[in-house]
Amino acid sequence: MSLHGRDVISIRDLSREEIESIVADARRMIPYAEGRKVMRSLEDKIVAMAFFEPSTRTRLSFESAVARLGGRSLTIADPGSTSLKKGESLNDTIRMLSAYADAIVLRHPNEGSARLAARASDKPVLNAGDGAGQHPTQTLLDLATMQEAFGTLSGLRVVLLGDLKYGRTVHSLAYALALFGAELVLSAPPTLRLPDEVRDQLEHMGAKLVEEDQLHRAIRDADILYVTRIQRERFPDEGEYQKVAGSYRIDNAVLAGAKPRLIVLHPLPRAGEIAPEVDATPHAAYFRQAFLAVPVRMALLNAILGPAKGKRGG
Ligand code: CP
Repeated sequence: MSLHGRDVISIRDLSREEIESIVADARRMIPYAEGRKVMRSLEDKIVAMAFFEPSTRTRLSFESAVARLGGRSLTIADPGSTSLKKGESLNDTIRMLSAYADAIVLRHPNEGSARLAARASDKPVLNAGDGAGQHPTQTLLDLATMQEAFGTLSGLRVVLLGDLKYGRTVHSLAYALALFGAELVLSAPPTLRLPDEVRDQLEHMGAKLVEEDQLHRAIRDADILYVTRIQRERFPDEGEYQKVAGSYRIDNAVLAGAKPRLIVLHPLPRAGEIAPEVDATPHAAYFRQAFLAVPVRMALLNAILGPAKGKRGG
């Protein structure tokens, strides 16, 4: 099925074949993302960036992707500068953006907000993170990084470490990896385990799940260590956050027990979970991962907004 004109709210909106197609297209986009080649497929398009939570990578890589494809962005980076401040609803804000742009990229603190926005908009909505819900475009670039490192997405053993409760990137990623038959090793502080509803759905999909609280045991046979930040901003109580703050940290001593080909991924920003000394090791793939955001988002935007396949030449 074509992605043309579609919303991307959950990673589960995409089939395995569609994910593979975006990852393959992203690979071909790399020279364009680096500015070594030129593509103008979004020349007549405007994409609204509606960011109601802080972002560095997601917003700027989406803006870079639009610019590299010859399109333009309209950006809300400071919600306090919008009429939300005067009491306008998210529904009405999205209706206006859909009148001014050809697609909307939305980041919002409330889980489910992207789905609501998609109902309010007659233009495609891309979920750039909805509270503790999902972050599907992050998952696409996570998968592109794995594909680049291992040449396949099948049969990988992936440790998901950290805040599996509030971490939206791991929710999306776990669903996608289940489609590819990965073995998922869940390693989280007891209060930050994967929510039951996510776990139930993964089990329903036939995912191979293992719980392992001991980090050295979790990473021993792993191909990928996916580290997450504890999502301090989602805790209802700062005291609860303080109980788990700093409870895990990846450094070279921890990685001494890993396979030489293990790669460390992190959606970033990091806040102490990965020691800077790891950056210089062959395990560190998180900055490459952050760069791949641009070609992946180019591939996705091109599929959603670019010339419809099969309609070229009338
Ligand atoms: N990975 C990610 O979502 O980073 P930002 O919060 O900086 O966008």
